[in-house]
Amino acid sequence: MDDFAALRLQLEWGADEALEEFPVDRMVTRGLAPAPPQPIGIQGNRETPPVARSIVRAAPPPQPVPIAAPQARAQDIAAAAQTLDELRAAMQAFDGCPLSTTATQLVFADGNPESGLMFVGEAPGAEEDRMGKPFVGASGMFLDRMLASIGLDRTQFLITNLIPWRPPGNRNPTDSEVLLCLPFLLRHIALVRPKRLVLMGGLAAQSVLASKTGITRLRGKWVEVNIPGLDGPIPALPMLHPAYLLRNHGAKRDAWRDMLTLRRHLDSEIQ
Ligand code: URA
Repeated sequence: MDDFAALRLQLEWGADEALEEFPVDRMVTRGLAPAPPQPIGIQGNRETPPVARSIVRAAPPPQPVPIAAPQARAQDIAAAAQTLDELRAAMQAFDGCPLSTTATQLVFADGNPESGLMFVGEAPGAEEDRMGKPFVGASGMFLDRMLASIGLDRTQFLITNLIPWRPPGNRNPTDSEVLLCLPFLLRHIALVRPKRLVLMGGLAAQSVLASKTGITRLRGKWVEVNIPGLDGPIPALPMLHPAYLLRNHGAKRDAWRDMLTLRRHLDSEIQ
């Protein structure tokens, strides 16, 4: 394959920008690369004098070790985390989601976990992947401006994503990636214990609410949602995703209504 074709293939696979000066083989750094071939039956290397070599019996074939399906493992690992730090560390160590091998790093959360208000987006983009923080790229800046218009900044809410690793080339997460990552998000919510949730975009809203209804019908109305590990249901407000709003200016009017709906809810609690 010539260089140009190789480059085009990388682009198709989502490797659309250079993050570092030299490539990093993450299969090797994560210990996932196959071991280099070993001589069978002979111990020692070519420099070892023949007398030092010994013939050994071939090792018995490895016994199959039952490995829990990644989704069950994600559930168990998430449920075992008792603090946000433990959850972050557990997610960092989790190797069951292929996205973690292509992303630069885990994107966990930003903002104030004590604030009582938690926003959930879809998945990190290139800028989030680079910085390790959610919503720091173009849609994040737009979201910050929308929230500033109702008097909110990142000290007054916590923000995270349904998927904590960037899908290559910003492709949509697959159903199985969503199923793998959902237990981590639900545990995240249970540990934060927010008084209310804002779900941005169809994927986050449908996944957390276990609904098939489209975001244009869900948006703007508070719904009660049961999160495992919380004592009772909490109110959740689905809204359009800021990245969608950046592309669809006509939808900004609806988004503004949703901002006012959120502001009223926050104010009603203060009184
Ligand atoms: N879009 C998201 O859904 N999340 C981010 O963190 C950035 C963009």
